[in-house]
Amino acid sequence: MILFIVLWVALSPLGWLVTDAMNMTGAPASKVMEEIQQTIQVFTIVSMPLCAFVLAVLLYSLFGWKHVQGDRPKFESPAIRTNRVGVGLWVGATSVLALFLVGWGLVELAQITANAYGTIPSDEQPDDEKPLIVNVTGQQWVWTFEYPEHDRVTSAQLYLPVDRPVYFNVTSKDVIHNFWAVELGVKIDANPGAITQTGVTPNKIGTFNVRCAELCGLHHAYMQTKIRVVDNDDFNSWVREMGGQKTS
Ligand code: CUA
Repeated sequence: MILFIVLWVALSPLGWLVTDAMNMTGAPASKVMEEIQQTIQVFTIVSMPLCAFVLAVLLYSLFGWKHVQGDRPKFESPAIRTNRVGVGLWVGATSVLALFLVGWGLVELAQITANAYGTIPSDEQPDDEKPLIVNVTGQQWVWTFEYPEHDRVTSAQLYLPVDRPVYFNVTSKDVIHNFWAVELGVKIDANPGAITQTGVTPNKIGTFNVRCAELCGLHHAYMQTKIRVVDNDDFNSWVREMGGQKTS
């Protein structure tokens, strides 16, 4: 028990620090990504007592019940499976933790889904609230972004205006890829002959990463490009630079 409590107390801040450091490297640039990172952090912290308990039992068994050459064990270790209090506590505590995680997961999933699909364009939406539409095409081994509302401007980098919902139509020209806008928390399959759809609202100006998250051939690891989240004026001048007449 002492070993368990010591490990629990020691591991919890460590888990927090490690997940926090991970968050800093992939600083979230959307509400969705903020939720995802918070979930990773909470799941790590909540799983620490179980991790500590398993480690405590392992260390105790290794050092407390070590077999010495030529030595005969003095007595059998007590059987945990027949200990009602022990089994009850184990089942009770793990159930509470697991149910908490299921509850948290369902709530977060609903929020993330609402956030992504809240950007689906509808006819009732006034024009200035309509999401920007971007057609994303994957092929071995590059990404292409097309802006159908802006004279079909196409680009190898994903330019997005900050704080405006964007709606992605994702497809592939050859094999299955996966469109992963890392810091935006978007990850969806790019299938040949089909269009998958998702959306997000970038909430931070900066440069972020697009990667391919589905093994798709020799240069899969290099199938990446940049996302430039800029303010609305910069976005409009970029559209004009790319040859688009119609800006938002
Ligand atoms: Cu495209 Cu991996």
